[in-house]
Amino acid sequence: AFVVTDNCIKCKYTDCVAVCPADAFYEGPNFLVISPDDCIDCDLCPVECPAGAIFQEDEVPEDQKEFIKLNAELAEIWPRITEVKAPPSDAKEWDGVKNKINHLII
Ligand code: SF4
Ligand code: F3S
Repeated sequence: AFVVTDNCIKCKYTDCVAVCPADAFYEGPNFLVISPDDCIDCDLCPVECPAGAIFQEDEVPEDQKEFIKLNAELAEIWPRITEVKAPPSDAKEWDGVKNKINHLII
């Protein structure tokens, strides 16, 4: 499955949602995750993410591995999102900031 990682937090552009044929995305207050049960590995979403936050499970950077489990867990408790919405007004300022996991709201 594909995995959403740290740089999505507080950016949450949602462009990924528009292309997913499996409706595999789930939405929290400031982050999106992919359900490994829903993802069909079509590889369409990574290139759509302006923040470069989506990786195939085997290619998740070493310092982001915790997001594999986090995607699976949060997909169980967050509602599915199937439509694009406007990103936070300060999304650009947060793009590229490291360790945004400290700002993750569950
Ligand atoms: Fe959806 Fe395809 Fe991305 Fe999986 S890889 S989350 S199926 S767009
Ligand atoms: Fe997040 Fe990128 Fe989607 S910032 S909401 S994974 S387009």
